[in-house]
Amino acid sequence: RVLIVDFGSQVTQLIARRVREAGVYCEIHPFDKAEAIVDAYKPSAIILSGGPSSVLEADSPRIGRKLFDLGLPMLAICYGQQLLCDVLGGKVEGGHAGEFGRAELTIGKVSPLFEGLAGVGELETVWMSHGDRVTAIPDGFEVVATSTGAPFAAIANDEKKIYALQFHPEVYHTVNGARMYRNFLFNIAGLKGDWTMAAFRQEMVQKIRDQVGSGKVICGLSGGVDSSVAAVLIHEAIGDQLTCVFVDTGLLRKNEADQVVTLFRDHYNIPLVHVDAGELFLGELAGVSDPETKRKTIGKLFIDVFDKEAAKIDGAEFLAQGTLYPDVVESVSARGGPSAVIKSHHNVGGLPDYMKLKLVEPLRELFKDEVRALGVELGLAPAFVGRHPFPGPGLAIRIPGEITPEKVKVLQDADAIYLEEIRNAGLYDKIWQAFAVLLPVKTVGVMGDARTYENVLALRAVTSTDGMTADFFEFPWPVLGKTATRIINEVRGVNRVVYDVTSKPPGTIEWE
Ligand code: XMP
Repeated sequence: RVLIVDFGSQVTQLIARRVREAGVYCEIHPFDKAEAIVDAYKPSAIILSGGPSSVLEADSPRIGRKLFDLGLPMLAICYGQQLLCDVLGGKVEGGHAGEFGRAELTIGKVSPLFEGLAGVGELETVWMSHGDRVTAIPDGFEVVATSTGAPFAAIANDEKKIYALQFHPEVYHTVNGARMYRNFLFNIAGLKGDWTMAAFRQEMVQKIRDQVGSGKVICGLSGGVDSSVAAVLIHEAIGDQLTCVFVDTGLLRKNEADQVVTLFRDHYNIPLVHVDAGELFLGELAGVSDPETKRKTIGKLFIDVFDKEAAKIDGAEFLAQGTLYPDVVESVSARGGPSAVIKSHHNVGGLPDYMKLKLVEPLRELFKDEVRALGVELGLAPAFVGRHPFPGPGLAIRIPGEITPEKVKVLQDADAIYLEEIRNAGLYDKIWQAFAVLLPVKTVGVMGDARTYENVLALRAVTSTDGMTADFFEFPWPVLGKTATRIINEVRGVNRVVYDVTSKPPGTIEWE
């Protein structure tokens, strides 16, 4: 396995993705903890990430010689390259014009890192992003590729298996970056790409058994991908020692609650408590129109209901959660970052402290894509695991203003038609998230010979990789046109449909 030392790059997680896509397990650890964990973690190779700092600054993030002296294969990227040169006796200078964006790399020498890529004297397109640059390399290293702005774009010490790059091979714009990672992992570090979801499944089943023994586990099921995959995996490990509690807020998509119940109870035979709490939630939400109050009301009620059900399960010692790797990885770039609360995201799940249940989190090493692959490995339908993200507060934050049962029904029906048309057009997997928003605005229309006066429905669809930034999706007009016609004809209460063309930022994905 590989140790990725994080110096605060925005794209450190992409390095981990590339390594894992190659079938090699890896973990990210902050630079100031890497030395302490290395003896226990026993990596077979080390990757140093990039970062926003300059090694010329006094308080820049550093590691000492220990990691360099382990004799392990190493790949150092951008800031990592500069640090490597600084520590091993090269030279780094600022004050040059930085290089940002696409650059052409000229391959200067045959190197195992570039196997299968452009030949000597030929070009590779890469992505650069640096201010400082290396001006002298340490003894034992040679230059294997250059670019106009970086005469030491790639340097190598073949004997010690240390490679250092000024560019970022992990980003999508470095066309053959994935191949460079595979070359490093397989050709240079001699690793095998045998970390698969099938292997992970087996290993995790054993770990869950070891952790839980004969204890009982409660799993809060939201109907989302993460908690579903966690539940199926845990059930495989410990069978009916697992009980799932599904709090149905009445704010899910059309038919989704029934699908969850059928899938888990009938298909997987997992003991499932279905708490049909729609009336309770809608009752508490009556008259509430402030978005943050909606979130808080739902979050609190959810915990109350879950808590009450969980308490009925005699002798439960463990709580299962679908926590993922991006939630637990300690990221250097997030330290001291902006902390303004835009929305108080509440995620379904989580219990009050006093319950003192021990956590079972079988997905905490996985990225979302890996969870999906594991779900398929466990027999869940690809369409089920590939579903768009859905917020904990559900349709409540897609009905600006006050929520009524009638409005929820209108929105469920309209949303179902929208998603059906997206699937029919083969566009579902190209979109990160698509949904309808029922606006508290009435407009005049005409149907047959009669005047109508009904609500406006907004359609939203965005592309994104992580939900942090997003672009509106460029629909073919006929798909939108057909969707609008169907919704207005089939759903009473909507007589006008509009499409939201706001990106994030400045908009957010949800309307509330
Ligand atoms: P925004 O609207 O902040 O959404 O651009 C980014 C992503 O987060 C989801 N979202 C939520 N998820 N509880 C959740 O579990 C929430 O309160 C919440 N608000 C937004 C949103 O659907 C999108 O995927």
